[in-house]
Amino acid sequence: QPLVGLVGWRGMVGSVLMDRMQAEGDFGLIEPVFFSTSNAGGKAPAQAKNETTLKDAFDIDALKKCDIVITAQGGDYTTEVFPKLRAAGWTGHWIDAASTLRMKDDAVIILDPVNLPVIRNALARGGRNWIGGNCTVSCMLMGVGALYKAGLVEWMTSMTYQAASGGGAQHMRELLTQFGTINNEVRQLLDDPKSAILEIDRKVLARQQGMGASETEHFGVPLGGSLIPWIDKDLGEGVSREEWKAGAETNKILGQGPGFDAPAIPVDGFCVRVGAMRCHSQAMTFKLKKDVPLADIEALLANDNAWVKVIPNTKEATLQGLTPVAVTGTLDIPVGRIRKLAMGPEYVGMFTIGDQLLWGAAEPLRRMLRILLA
Ligand code: HSE
Repeated sequence: QPLVGLVGWRGMVGSVLMDRMQAEGDFGLIEPVFFSTSNAGGKAPAQAKNETTLKDAFDIDALKKCDIVITAQGGDYTTEVFPKLRAAGWTGHWIDAASTLRMKDDAVIILDPVNLPVIRNALARGGRNWIGGNCTVSCMLMGVGALYKAGLVEWMTSMTYQAASGGGAQHMRELLTQFGTINNEVRQLLDDPKSAILEIDRKVLARQQGMGASETEHFGVPLGGSLIPWIDKDLGEGVSREEWKAGAETNKILGQGPGFDAPAIPVDGFCVRVGAMRCHSQAMTFKLKKDVPLADIEALLANDNAWVKVIPNTKEATLQGLTPVAVTGTLDIPVGRIRKLAMGPEYVGMFTIGDQLLWGAAEPLRRMLRILLA
């Protein structure tokens, strides 16, 4: 069985990955080697077979023995270890959740239900670097990739509603702590049905505005009861790095734009952090190349892959099936609110949601492993 090194398996994305690999029987097909950045020599988890101690994740010789390395350890680890491992002559497959290598010419952004031909093409040419996409982009393409594949999209704009988990585990904790702090501030007034709502509102705002550095360490400002219309670095010229990724990665996943024959399609919009836990949502506007009947659009979307679910555009179906609470912990990618917009018959709006730890992070990695093992 191929030796598969696992790095960063204990973190949030790594834990979700381990659960999914366990559920799908992936460990039955591999000889896992568990690496650690902090606890080399410790005991490997229950999935270990012959190698039951943790190896040092910075030990290039130990990594070199692996046929495949899967890492969810994060970008700093990739930056430090990947070049050394390749420089040492390692020719194995590197499967990575971090963004570090995504836009490199010799890396493929993996999302096989959408871009299996791009992956197969790269494999045939000796490709060895397989990088998971940005969570928002991956969840979006799982939902509406069919429109791109059909060549129908002239441009798309997406306004996102991104969950705290996109920042990391500490961000989720900070959000929940803020919610608790705010509730605590007005609990007595809330318990009294006759209290004045504007008094409650004033107290909430004062508490939010008074939050100290330790209460907003991870988001920088309060997120509980608010939102933050900027995600990731400031690239200058008014664009956030998350917004830049939407266009750059969508096109690269689809095998178009720089380095490919087909031209890039404009994809742009605003990325916004909201107080959801781990599902990223987005409202999309498409300008299609022609007027396509809504029923045809819905059929195209519904038949694209096993996980996309078209939600009827009614209030009841939306409330039942198109919320982060309904989707979290599932691989479902619902797409709803599908309708022609007032701008004209080529303009179509829709809304989609995905668990950013599943399709947005862990699932494409383990599916790439399966492609390599097949
Ligand atoms: N950049 C994403 C976010 C994380 O902050 O939501 C996953 O790519």
